Amino acid sequence: MTMKRVLSGIQPTHDSFHLGNYLGAVKQWVELQHKHDAFYCVVDLHALTIETDPALLRKRSLASAAQLIALGVDPDKCTLFLQSHVSEHNQLGWIMECLAGFGEASRMTQFKDKSQKSGTDRTVVGLFTYPMLQAADILLYQADLVPVGEDQRQHIELTRDLAGRFNSRYGDTFQLPEAYILKAGAKINDLQDPTSKMSKSANSMQGVIEIMDTPEVNAKKIKSSMTDTGREVLFNEKEKPGISNLLTIHSALSGRSISELESEFAGKGYGDFKSTVADVVVDYLRPIRQRALELLEDESGLIAVLRQGAEKAQVVAEKTLASTYKNLGLVER
Ligand code: AMP
Ligand code: TRP
Repeated sequence: MTMKRVLSGIQPTHDSFHLGNYLGAVKQWVELQHKHDAFYCVVDLHALTIETDPALLRKRSLASAAQLIALGVDPDKCTLFLQSHVSEHNQLGWIMECLAGFGEASRMTQFKDKSQKSGTDRTVVGLFTYPMLQAADILLYQADLVPVGEDQRQHIELTRDLAGRFNSRYGDTFQLPEAYILKAGAKINDLQDPTSKMSKSANSMQGVIEIMDTPEVNAKKIKSSMTDTGREVLFNEKEKPGISNLLTIHSALSGRSISELESEFAGKGYGDFKSTVADVVVDYLRPIRQRALELLEDESGLIAVLRQGAEKAQVVAEKTLASTYKNLGLVER
């Protein structure tokens, strides 16, 4: 039996992932690597669509890789690499650009939102062609499944359309991938504004638990999280969004059910509960942060791990690109 192939990518746009990224995305990556042939990619080329200081981009790419490993993405069980290390991504990206329609690409909502925010003059062409590079990321590896958040569904649909179009014009070349939309239950909200999702673009970082923050900072953020009305620790997203969010976090990290936690805290009040959640989060993240820092201390060791990942990835990528070129009628060298 051959294992299904999985591919996903995450942008190195911040110094630290937050708890939402972990519980909503990376945790599923870790689970999927055991029963699938998984390829995980830090999409540093995609991150160039946002102008970033070179030293910062470098730091964030390595920090992202270190955090993924510390969170359980195991380079011995999956293929973990940096997108820029495998040049086939750019090469197939161009082919995808020549396949996609201008109107089709113009309908991508992520492009529309982002370009509207910054205005045409400050929008780079790379933001427009971003989904075609993403399609290349996926199709190069003949991925069956692409674990992503709901916001990426449209990009995966586009990828399927492009793959199907190529196959029917030039002969069977690409596997049609399916979006594997991450469970909605894993949505984590902001601690200060618990009706909106925890996000790196929040106005204030007070409500965002970052993997790389110190245990003290994170404990404080949880203890000073928004207090709902009432006093009982009960899961009720409408009336107690703050407490419900903390229950979700506790349950996701401790593996205990929400109803079990409600009984444990019956009659105990918010203060006790928040302290316990702070302990659970801090105890969970402490060794992860420690491991990420250790990995970052040995930078050449970390780069060597990524190089091995890139070598494994390239074997597959080369093969797909070669058959793509051949089917297109590009002359062999
Ligand atoms: P982003 O950098 O916001 O695009 O997020 C990277 C990944 O983390 C995506 O797969 C998102 O779906 C996931 N993610 C981001 N924020 C949250 C959140 N608050 N709760 C659950 N998942 C999230
Ligand atoms: N666009 C994705 C995001 O913003 C990141 C990404 C790039 C990706 N290439 C990918 C996700 C390939 C899945 C597969 O989250």
